[in-house]
Amino acid sequence: MEKRCLRFADISVSEKMLYSLFLMTIGIGYLFALTHMYYTHQMRDGQAGMSIQDVMIAYYGSQDQTRIGAAINGGPMEANLKSADDKEKILAWLSSDKSEASFAQNVAPILNSSCVGCHNPDVNPSLPNLTSYDGVMEVASSKGASLTGLVKISHIHLFGIAFILLLVGRIFIYSDMSVALKRIIVVIPFLSMLIDTLSWFITRNNPNFAYVVVASGALMGLSMGAQIVISLYQMWLGEFLLSDAQQARVKKMAVSVQAWALPILSASKRYVLKTAPVVWRNGVSIVRKLALSGYHVARYQLNSPLVLSAVEQLNAAQYAERLLDKGYGVWFAGKGWLVKESLLSWLFFGSVDELESYVTRSDTYV
Ligand code: HEC
Repeated sequence: MEKRCLRFADISVSEKMLYSLFLMTIGIGYLFALTHMYYTHQMRDGQAGMSIQDVMIAYYGSQDQTRIGAAINGGPMEANLKSADDKEKILAWLSSDKSEASFAQNVAPILNSSCVGCHNPDVNPSLPNLTSYDGVMEVASSKGASLTGLVKISHIHLFGIAFILLLVGRIFIYSDMSVALKRIIVVIPFLSMLIDTLSWFITRNNPNFAYVVVASGALMGLSMGAQIVISLYQMWLGEFLLSDAQQARVKKMAVSVQAWALPILSASKRYVLKTAPVVWRNGVSIVRKLALSGYHVARYQLNSPLVLSAVEQLNAAQYAERLLDKGYGVWFAGKGWLVKESLLSWLFFGSVDELESYVTRSDTYV
């Protein structure tokens, strides 16, 4: 007999109430998270509104724009300056080496008279602190995200969101729909979250990955939103609002989605199965080469410096010549010879004898 899993129709009203409140709280929390993101990033490129530029600057940094520079040079804070002269002084300091001495002499007096009325931790703890050199430096650097900062955010982010997605997905699984479609909707938020987090790091080096950050972030939000909406709908509205004919139409749509999703899934499964042995063989050989290279490098570390006689030097030079002819790399490294067979495969020989037997051996192979 086929195993039957629980559906929303099988669970009690109090359970539905609990789930609904949980889903709505998560949904509202997510909206606040979006708002927060908007406020912290939107002005990074000096223009109101969120753009791909803002994301690039947040992770990759910007060559020409600092936050304070953007704010006073065409930005919303320019009006607070008393004269154009003041603006030039601050911009000149920003494009210099930003020393503390020159800050105290040229910039601090301007900020003290025009800005610290608001930008002062006692008055507005949420605004950039412009009362000290350190505070100003926070908005005066043009760097993107720091690696340590990203690592910190990533681990908190992944731990936290994994739980949210688990619970939201667990509830969503009670809904009634095509199984293939359901499996896809359950997997997408996790995949897109992982891709999103990974692309933060890549964007630090390649600003074009900001598009992947935005696309995968949006995909995660949309798919989680779909889970919440579908669950809430099926818990409370589904059976009352849909006529039989409509339900049949929805089922038909689900079946047609399934019709194109399944071939894609099975094609990718076939592809994975086909390529797996090749990937495995290459993987094993790469790991073996790396392990061998590691062993040889360790031997190099342990070997003591070599003192060579003139004859030995001559012999060694000949062997090295023969290896170079074969396209290998050869270095005399004080303690012996490092030989590069390929990028992944390195060998070490601690004496002329070892080098000789390697060269004669590899000659007979060829
Ligand atoms: C009347 C109060 C007030 C004064 C005076 C003021 N600011 Fe601001 N400033 C704000 C507020 C509010 C924000 C946050 C809103 C925003 O980002 O638009 C802000 C934001 C900023 C930011 C952050 C922009 C970002 O990228 O997040 C900088 C930098 C800044 N101000 C610099 C200055 C400078 C320099 C001066 C003096 C010339 C100054 N402000 C004067 C109220 C003020």
